[in-house]
Amino acid sequence: MHRLLPPADTGTGGRSDEPLDGPLDDAALAAHYAYPDGLTAPWVRVNFVASVDGAVSVDGRSGGLGSPADHRVFVLLRELADVVLVGAGTVRAEDYRGARRPTRGRDLPPAIAVVTGSADLDPGSRLFTDTAVPPIVLTLDSAPAQRRERIAEAGGEVVVLERLTPDLVLGELARRGLHRVLCEGGPTLLGELVAADAVDELCLTVTPLLTGGTAGRIAVGPEGTHPRPLQLVGALHEEGTLVLRYRRATPIV
Ligand SMILES: NC(=O)c1ccc[n+]([C@@H]2O[C@H](COP(=O)([O-])OP(=O)(O)OC[C@H]3O[C@@H](n4cnc5c(N)ncnc54)[C@H](OP(=O)(O)O)[C@@H]3O)[C@@H](O)[C@H]2O)c1
Repeated sequence: MHRLLPPADTGTGGRSDEPLDGPLDDAALAAHYAYPDGLTAPWVRVNFVASVDGAVSVDGRSGGLGSPADHRVFVLLRELADVVLVGAGTVRAEDYRGARRPTRGRDLPPAIAVVTGSADLDPGSRLFTDTAVPPIVLTLDSAPAQRRERIAEAGGEVVVLERLTPDLVLGELARRGLHRVLCEGGPTLLGELVAADAVDELCLTVTPLLTGGTAGRIAVGPEGTHPRPLQLVGALHEEGTLVLRYRRATPIV
């Protein structure tokens, strides 16, 4: 993987000893994606892969958009995170399992925190059976009690919130000291984060494919959401795949 932005000697993730056009080693890639130091509140990083024409899935799953570059960044971003936040639609579509590798500087992988109003998660699925740490299931009192009980029996930590709004969800993660948040989607959850202006950073892999079809895009939500300006802070490429990193734009005052 090669760096397009930022240049290697700007001090914003690049290293002075690294040639601009040379391949990025693991340390340089981790520096490129470092979370801000000293976080005292959640920093929400979102990671998606999409085709050039904006599709987030092929045949209902994101796997058809994958590439070695995307996989490398996907794994690294998990290693840098305290928690992986994901909507239940993605868990069901992708048959999610627990993260494999420990968070850097810790002994255990980040927990998967699932947002689900219905608590409709299969207790026999890999989310519960193939994980080193219990998933956190953020749900509502209106979810059927039997489902919540079965999730708890399967080892999930069930957390009932008054509402599943971004502020309450992120507040619950913050209460646990989980500040380095990695949201892996899906589009419904991202749409809610966008509407609430809760996205600090968007990591987007653009896969060199035109897919056509009816697949959705990375965020869906209520009409009338105010567009959120972003600034491009990183761009990498490998074999036609663009690995982009945007941050919330700082308002000009
Ligand atoms: N390309 C990529 O990088 C990528 C990443 C992620 C997902 N995807 C694709 O996206 C598709 C899934 O899309 P999706 O929009 O269904 O995914 P999603 O956002 O992961 O899941 C939506 C579900 O999350 C729960 N949820 C989210 N916010 C909620 C809230 N405020 N209150 C209550 N429940 C809430 C609901 O679950 P309940 O129905 O259980 O209440 C809702 O149905 C799949 O095809 C997947 O492959 C692609």
